[in-house]
Amino acid sequence: MTTTFDNIWPLADKAEGWCSEGQARALWHLASAVNSPGTIVEIGSYRARSLQILASAAAQGVDVVAIDPHGGNDRGPQQWTGTAEEGNEDSERFWANLTAAGLTDRISHIRSRSQAAHDDVGNVDFLYIDGAHGFGPARDDLVRWGAKVNDGGSMAVHDCFSSVGVTLALMTTTFVSGRWRFVGRERSLAWFERADLAPRQRVTNALRQATSLPWFATNLVRKALIATRISKADWPY
Ligand SMILES: C[S@@+](CC[C@H](N)C(=O)[O-])C[C@H]1O[C@@H](n2cnc3c(N)ncnc32)[C@H](O)[C@@H]1O
Repeated sequence: MTTTFDNIWPLADKAEGWCSEGQARALWHLASAVNSPGTIVEIGSYRARSLQILASAAAQGVDVVAIDPHGGNDRGPQQWTGTAEEGNEDSERFWANLTAAGLTDRISHIRSRSQAAHDDVGNVDFLYIDGAHGFGPARDDLVRWGAKVNDGGSMAVHDCFSSVGVTLALMTTTFVSGRWRFVGRERSLAWFERADLAPRQRVTNALRQATSLPWFATNLVRKALIATRISKADWPY
């Protein structure tokens, strides 16, 4: 039976994580657009919620590589530091969720920080970045992993305009570089096409991304209210 988004989403939705249904649909479309032979890389897989979507959408002959140290740090909202035990539990849940979905043979996992895994992967057709959220590592993923994306390829980034580190990393890369045409956004998931933009297109491209900055400002206020326990709303992602 051919897997469809509607088949896999109920399974993926059982895995813990911060990928909404709308974001998963966008990832499905981006991953299914990769021609065989090709390569999809996910940086930051946690418990394989979004990875189940990527692996199910990928055509036969498309390699799906998941990079995550499962080290217990930078796991999700308000979880910057953690323990090795938490990381090991994430690893166990990662494999259990892939096994339940019958997808263990469909992916390869590199248990490492993305910044140390460069030489383990060649060129990429679709890059999904959802790893470390601080400015330095997020920018490093955008620049150094982004440089591996083939012409005609694409890149999606989670926690855009919700995480301060990721948003500042975008403002110093995709806003200004001319290498990435902004295509769309579903909440904090933004996606881009690999491009070589002319100067005027670069200005338009930056302005189109900047239209999300008021939403970013709203998210900062929301987060402050949640962190100070004034609000019990869900963390914005
Ligand atoms: C927000 S979670 C990813 C969620 C996942 N994409 C999903 O939607 O199911 C962030 C993950 O990034 C991983 N991570 C933290 N630092 C990393 C790094 N330097 N390189 C790669 N992954 C990292 C964490 O271990 C964690 O599992």
